[in-house]
Amino acid sequence: MCGIVGCVMARPAAPLLLDGLKKLEYRGYDSAGIAVSDGGAISVVKRKGRVKGLEDARALKGGTGVGHTRWATHGAPSECNAHPHCFGGICIVHNGIVENAATLKEECVRRGETFSSQTDSEVIAHLIAAEEGDLLTAVRAALQKISGSYAVAVLSERAPDTIVCARRASPLVVGCDGEGSYVASDIPAVAADGRAVYVLGDGEFAVLKKGEPPAFFDGALTPVKKAAIAYDACADTPQKQGFPHFMKKEIAEAPQSAEQSFPDLQSEVYSALCEVLCQTEHIHLVACGTAYHSTLCMYYVTHRFAKMTAQPFIASEYRYMDPIVPRGTLCITVSQSGETADTLASAALAKARGAKLLAVTNVKHSSLERMSDFVLPTHAGREIAVAATKSFCAQLAVLYALSHTIAQCRGHQAPPVSPLFSAMREALAAGEKVRAWVPYFVGARSVFFLGRGADRYAALEGSLKLKEVSYLPSEGYPAGELKHGTLALVDARTPVVALITDPAVADKTMNAVHEVSARGAPVFLITTIPACLGCAEVTACVLLPACEPAYSPMLTALPVQLLAYYVALACGNDPDKPRNLAKAVTVE
Ligand code: M6R
Repeated sequence: MCGIVGCVMARPAAPLLLDGLKKLEYRGYDSAGIAVSDGGAISVVKRKGRVKGLEDARALKGGTGVGHTRWATHGAPSECNAHPHCFGGICIVHNGIVENAATLKEECVRRGETFSSQTDSEVIAHLIAAEEGDLLTAVRAALQKISGSYAVAVLSERAPDTIVCARRASPLVVGCDGEGSYVASDIPAVAADGRAVYVLGDGEFAVLKKGEPPAFFDGALTPVKKAAIAYDACADTPQKQGFPHFMKKEIAEAPQSAEQSFPDLQSEVYSALCEVLCQTEHIHLVACGTAYHSTLCMYYVTHRFAKMTAQPFIASEYRYMDPIVPRGTLCITVSQSGETADTLASAALAKARGAKLLAVTNVKHSSLERMSDFVLPTHAGREIAVAATKSFCAQLAVLYALSHTIAQCRGHQAPPVSPLFSAMREALAAGEKVRAWVPYFVGARSVFFLGRGADRYAALEGSLKLKEVSYLPSEGYPAGELKHGTLALVDARTPVVALITDPAVADKTMNAVHEVSARGAPVFLITTIPACLGCAEVTACVLLPACEPAYSPMLTALPVQLLAYYVALACGNDPDKPRNLAKAVTVE
């Protein structure tokens, strides 16, 4: 999604802004730009496409500037829609959505103003330019008129060497060191050795001025004191380390990510949480996309072993469904980024209705972490590829641990999770066989992933992954549901991936294999059950190590992720940066 960088310093800002934008590239974007102020006059360079297209801006003079990577929401990716947007001596970069932009624009047009983009963001520059008073007061007054979400950084020709920043429901961090002050939409873009970093709270403002430490204000513009956060300054942007793509590297890191994320059950944090888990009668699981699939897996395991319903919800639905939150509800939110707008809004709603919040997230100091009562971090390390891979397995490790604890609290036994970690390593090696399946998928009309029980949820994730990076239409489906309509779609051009890890229902899923094969579909089997290998109707198969079937998505995720990766390559796609998608979905 969109990214913001900015700095106020004595040396030229442009090189630092361009480097900062490069650190934000992994988030996904389609245009980029910078604005640099040299003692008042502001120069703007923006382009459709990659940050490298801005190299001619490196020579801009001036130590104060802002930069942006844009992921189009309102208006196509283009140079004029790229940020920064300037009007009346004001220049802004914005992440978020101005929901009442149309109404606000009408007012500006009535005043005789013209707009040079189709974006919702440009109106912010117009609103600020229309305000009286100093820049901070003007920014506050303008933002009060906006509904929606924002992280903004603002330059003004009338306030040289100054950036005013503000946020509502979109992250922003501020840094400072001996050289100057900095702002960015995520910590890695601002982090540096010896630099203090502060997280701006929701509704807060910051003023960055040359030669002064950053000043922070609450929504009423009362100064607030902030403590610098502890962060790992050495944690550079990860490198591919010899892998051709981040996606491949991150799939390879999945076993380690899962193992490292399995919580220390003896720790103080986990013991405190354990008490809450043992008392709770109602669990809501809230997430989006891949993280939602991990909550489905937890739902299944909790049902199976703890004999309890932990109810999974898609966050974008939960926030608008007027959810019933009974007394004593624990709301478990799962998010790799910790910044997904729908997940944050759902968490806020559940909290307002009395739920305790437990966040399972991969990003320290994220908004989700900061608003939650309890946090169980996943230790997957930074995930750069847009497709979630290692973070899914890390989430499963944490969520299975929770289910295990809930089962114990309720007097039931759940099988141990730890044998999964070494099995994942074997599954990763075995999964490489899927590379040979690729010719059957390239050019396919549609692809089905089938399974029952826990396999059904891994099928959903396999299908999402394939769609995301190969752009092939695909569905994850409960194997028993096929003949209730979907079978009509199956023919020789619809490869089917069957996941079979539970001996109790293996024959049933095999029936689905026979049904699709009878309609000419090539069938690819991923199984932990050697007896399933003999089926003559199967085109090719991968045998994974035996495991507790309820936990099997932790293993089956690996070959399906690899399949998506190899098919994406064969289709000529960049698996790390799938079209139209962003790593952190910070807008609705
Ligand atoms: O950062 P989050 O885990 O909250 O993100 C949720 C989804 O946007 C994310 O899992 C998305 O579905 C993945 N890119 C899929 O690979």
